[in-house]
Amino acid sequence: MSLLMTEITVETPLDPYEGYRQLRQKAPVSKMDDGVWQVASHESVQAVLRDPRTFSSDVALRPPEEKSTPSMLFSDAPLHNRLRKLVSHAFKPSHIESQRELIAERCEELMLKLKTYQQADLVEAMAAPLPVTVIAHMLGVADGDIREFKSWSDAIFSNIADILFGTASPEAVKAGEKMDAYFLAQIEQLRLASKSHLLGRLVETETEDGKLSDEELLSFCRLLLIAGNETTTGLITGSVRILDEFPQTLQQLKSNPALIPTFVEEALRFYSPFSATARRTTCDTELGGVLIPAGDLVIPLMASANRDEKVFQNPDEFIIDRNPNPHLAFGFGIHFCLGAHLARLEGEIFLQSVIKHLETISLVEKDHSQMSDLGGPSKLMINLKALKE
Ligand code: HEM
Repeated sequence: MSLLMTEITVETPLDPYEGYRQLRQKAPVSKMDDGVWQVASHESVQAVLRDPRTFSSDVALRPPEEKSTPSMLFSDAPLHNRLRKLVSHAFKPSHIESQRELIAERCEELMLKLKTYQQADLVEAMAAPLPVTVIAHMLGVADGDIREFKSWSDAIFSNIADILFGTASPEAVKAGEKMDAYFLAQIEQLRLASKSHLLGRLVETETEDGKLSDEELLSFCRLLLIAGNETTTGLITGSVRILDEFPQTLQQLKSNPALIPTFVEEALRFYSPFSATARRTTCDTELGGVLIPAGDLVIPLMASANRDEKVFQNPDEFIIDRNPNPHLAFGFGIHFCLGAHLARLEGEIFLQSVIKHLETISLVEKDHSQMSDLGGPSKLMINLKALKE
């Protein structure tokens, strides 16, 4: 097989899924104008994610002294193993299951308010506050501080690419400093008197790899905001988009709620909220018959892999009970999403609440231009009709 340096231009159509289809067909591994590689096929995306030695997660090119304590998402072995081992017990399914009641209560509260309207912004009313409250609760943020916590999260997330690859905006720096100060004070308190929430457990956790330092704990708080907030918001907005585009699915869920878990898996595949991630090559390597030099930035497009016709039959159809469903929406390999159980639980509880309270739910506008942004749209107007009590 000859190794090529592929530089193929694919016109960017309005529908990103059409763009992904063209990429998979014409250039599943291709170099963009800015020198960054994009990877579109399921096979090659999986190959990148399963090989952290060749495709490093330490993507920022800043000198070590300029990097803040790396979070596990942007680190490689052995640091990644240490951080992941220290926190992963707190994400065990049994611990996450214990969050069910809290999530259900919060969702019910938001839904009871939402259903009094005929038209509302789904993001503001449900898709943003539900995940933010769950993470805030895990980190021991007091109820009265949640609004401020959300504003830090927004400022940091809206600037994520610059934080990683360039200079963070003054707003993001300020938000980061405020959040750090808030959590440092919490950590200090937790060292004096332990609490059973996630941050409390993390402060106490000690394994053969030692304890997490204050900096590592702060870095983990930041990571949860980035990794767990907007992504879950995207799962909720994506699910409602599906209920709108495939109206029979709401009826199917109502007549058979046991379909909710496979609906959520298929929603993750169909409109993947974490549409792409980043890696940097540590050596010259070959991917899908193409040569990628050492040191290049590589973007695995999970949203494209999840529509790959070589893996999924009728990939552009939403099949509510698709099985098997080997989607890569939570990634693959050593960085597989730590919060996957939690995200699934939140998605399922939201849908249970929809079928319990609503007769219909649909989008006001059919403009989906923002829907494919990382984390989904910042506003999504919906029409809804509550079920009669
Ligand atoms: C639908 C919602 C979610 C999606 C689609 C999602 C997706 C992902 C993906 C694709 C990765 C791997 C990225 C990579 O390999 O570069 C990841 C990692 C991660 N996610 Fe999620 N995530 C979601 C929700 C959550 C939640 C709710 C939490 C926690 C509260 C969370 C915590 C994490 C953490 C800590 C990592 C880093 C794991 C590591 O580096 O070992 N995620 N997520």
